Amino acid sequence: MSIVVVGSIGIDFVAVAARLPKIGETVLATQPLHIGPGGKGFNQAAGVARLGGEVRFATKTGRGDLGRQARSFMELEGLLTPLATESDADNQVALIFVDDLGHNMISVTPGASADLLPPDVDNLGIVPGDILLAQLEIPVATVAAAARHAKNAGATVVLNPAPAAPLPEELLQLIDIATPNETELSMLTGLPTATTSEVVAAAERLVSMGVEEVVATVGSKGAIHVNRSGSTTYPSILVDAVDSTGAGDAFNAGLAVGLSRGLELGDAIRLGCRAGAYCVTKLGVLDGLGTMAQLDEFAVQL
Ligand code: RIB
Repeated sequence: MSIVVVGSIGIDFVAVAARLPKIGETVLATQPLHIGPGGKGFNQAAGVARLGGEVRFATKTGRGDLGRQARSFMELEGLLTPLATESDADNQVALIFVDDLGHNMISVTPGASADLLPPDVDNLGIVPGDILLAQLEIPVATVAAAARHAKNAGATVVLNPAPAAPLPEELLQLIDIATPNETELSMLTGLPTATTSEVVAAAERLVSMGVEEVVATVGSKGAIHVNRSGSTTYPSILVDAVDSTGAGDAFNAGLAVGLSRGLELGDAIRLGCRAGAYCVTKLGVLDGLGTMAQLDEFAVQL
């Protein structure tokens, strides 16, 4: 069973400071600038690869030094295949602020990611039993096209709707599993998600909109799974947070790898929670994408 990731690759510029800046404020960083690969698509594809999953990554890199860096990061993770094409635009970039408690603020300039268009996902080679894993840093039309191909091929469609964007009716009906965080769930449904019961109600709304299974990630509280039969909460592993960036991506990678190994959805969610908690303990996303051995050792230590 392969996991086909369709999404962005970016270069992350990370500034760590005692606290996040307020509007109009300048805050001095407490560590040297951290530069590494990012983009939700790359993070999820690399997360799958490090967990030993069989992965193919359809993405668009950009021109110049940043595009070259993006391609070399993909090569290092074994993700540079013909499904990765190039654009004349600048590569995607993310500017990230992280505070002492591991909270972050992120702004993304999509650049080449916006040029990943429906024809780019016409030949993903998806076969029955595969898993499509997509996010929303690329055009929604491209995600919808990939989901259509995946469904027609008999694959499972997992959408991490991040960053949140309005989803067309057709795409909602194609999603087997959606994995929003509380903010994205609120934006998708127009409902509040401040409490657990509000998250469950909003997830039920997303199910009524056509999504089969909703797995809402709720930060240090873990994940809440909702479908037509009810809801189940999966607690997270409590850790000292260094940087929460990419925790959602690690979660999605773990979930997809679990499903590809034939785990029940609940056990795949547990693996996702473990991968997400591990990620939060490292600065930058790449170091936070653990191998199965690292996740096993991490769980024993806690
Ligand atoms: O999910 C984390 C990612 O979001 C970062 O790596 C950054 O690139 C943004 O795309």
